[in-house]
Amino acid sequence: MTGGILALPVDILLVVVSYIPVESVLCLLQTCRGFHALGSTDYVWHTIGTDSLPLDIPPDLDCRRLSGQTLHRAWVKGLRLERNWSTEAYNPRQLSQIKNSDEYIVIQTQFLSSDWLVTLARAPSISSLCLSIWNVTFPGREYRYAYMEIPHASKFSAATRKGGTEAVVAVVLDAYTRTTNVNVYSVCLDKDQDPFILATFHQAGRIASLSDGTPGELRVRDNIVMISVAHFGDVFSPPTYTFLAFNVDTQTHLTLRAKLPEHFTHVQFRLFPHHLVIAGLKLHERLALQTYDFTAAKAALARPRYLASENDADHDLLGPCLAEDTTDEVPSDSDFSLSDGFIRNGMPAITALVFHATAVSALTRHGTASVFSFPAEVNSHCPAGMGAMPIHVFRTPTSAASDIVCLGRTGYRCVWLERRWDTDIFTLMKASFPSRDSKTAFVERLLPPTFTLPFLASSIQSMSFEESTGRISLGLHTGQLYLLDL
Ligand SMILES: *[C@@H]1O[C@H](CO)[C@@H](O)[C@H](O)[C@H]1NC(C)=O
Ligand SMILES: *[C@@H]1O[C@H](CO)[C@@H](O)[C@H](O)[C@H]1NC(C)=O
Repeated sequence: MTGGILALPVDILLVVVSYIPVESVLCLLQTCRGFHALGSTDYVWHTIGTDSLPLDIPPDLDCRRLSGQTLHRAWVKGLRLERNWSTEAYNPRQLSQIKNSDEYIVIQTQFLSSDWLVTLARAPSISSLCLSIWNVTFPGREYRYAYMEIPHASKFSAATRKGGTEAVVAVVLDAYTRTTNVNVYSVCLDKDQDPFILATFHQAGRIASLSDGTPGELRVRDNIVMISVAHFGDVFSPPTYTFLAFNVDTQTHLTLRAKLPEHFTHVQFRLFPHHLVIAGLKLHERLALQTYDFTAAKAALARPRYLASENDADHDLLGPCLAEDTTDEVPSDSDFSLSDGFIRNGMPAITALVFHATAVSALTRHGTASVFSFPAEVNSHCPAGMGAMPIHVFRTPTSAASDIVCLGRTGYRCVWLERRWDTDIFTLMKASFPSRDSKTAFVERLLPPTFTLPFLASSIQSMSFEESTGRISLGLHTGQLYLLDL
């Protein structure tokens, strides 16, 4: 029988493979030698898209540049994690404490990949903070790879570049002075580094703006660092925003202005190779995402500093708004989180999770949360004039607020800390938000009730999440740092 199927030309078999679920492809490859041989070719794995499940492969890389064997392994791992993830009361594989003895309050943590973790913690000398990069490849054997004290640091953002061999870390200083000061560092990520020698942070640049404005979101992508700055005219009008960009390689600075809708608040942004996506609440009741062409700005940033003209500080450099997606009404007290996003069909794809419940209204009735996927699909459920409908809606308990929401890069998985105001109980939650087929969202406690954490969940101060491997970092008030492997 299989001999019959195998007699078909290979390109037909590949078309067949592209239509069946990956789980079935994996089963098929085990049925006989012929299929096994087919499964060892790169073609099969390049035919299977990689955007239906978060896989542990480098982000934004064309998957056709990876070998079939690498993709095969990534799928097997990804599907195993998916099975565990969507099991209720599933016991995590490992919880390990990272030894960072002499610090207080871990203010922020961020995974660069599943191998590297960056943390910002208060140092023993109160006015200083310490920025660390940890090698977390082997659970239980994590160690500090690089370390630096930075006075007046308040938050950071980091990303890897050059195929994961270098990290760029940008740090906001003096966030409370209404001027913007960002120091940018680079660190070489060398896997052969002696674990007993600390790697160094090299100063790679600085963003300083003397004009009055409150620094907002900070992001790093490849060699570009960007920070949003909110300018408040008078107390009655909503702020206006500028975006300061800096290229680490050329040392060129730019100030970008976007023509944002009036009364646009809670502004966040995401940077992509050719696009800038700016999100915010329109008149407080619709979430809007605007996608701008970033090519001209990127080209200007790629010119060496001495060639960049003074007039580049111009909104013209930000190309036209290519697309605007607006959601249907969301309650005015909503709080939203965005995924980092990825590129699908040449355009940025972003997921937003909106919790509609703040302390006051949540005391008396259960809340709801909605998940939106952008670009929004316009279909019969979404008549013209109405905004995009959520792809998932789920209930949140009465008197609950959601703190520290970590949406995975693709927006498929999410973890957050839920706080009950009535009982003051904190619970770690997990969810998956499938975008395809009409599967429903899966929302559960992250840990089974029988699993006891060696600390109080209420002492969690910061969290980050690597969705393709199911790793979660937990930074505590007490300075302790934990890694949870699901
Ligand atoms: C899934 O759970 C099983 C059983 O706890 C564990 O052995 C396995 O390593 C987990 N797999 C992944 C990929 O997380
Ligand atoms: C982390 O350290 C281990 C042991 O020194 C090493 O084998 C591993 O390659 C390092 N991880 C990375 C991503 O460099």
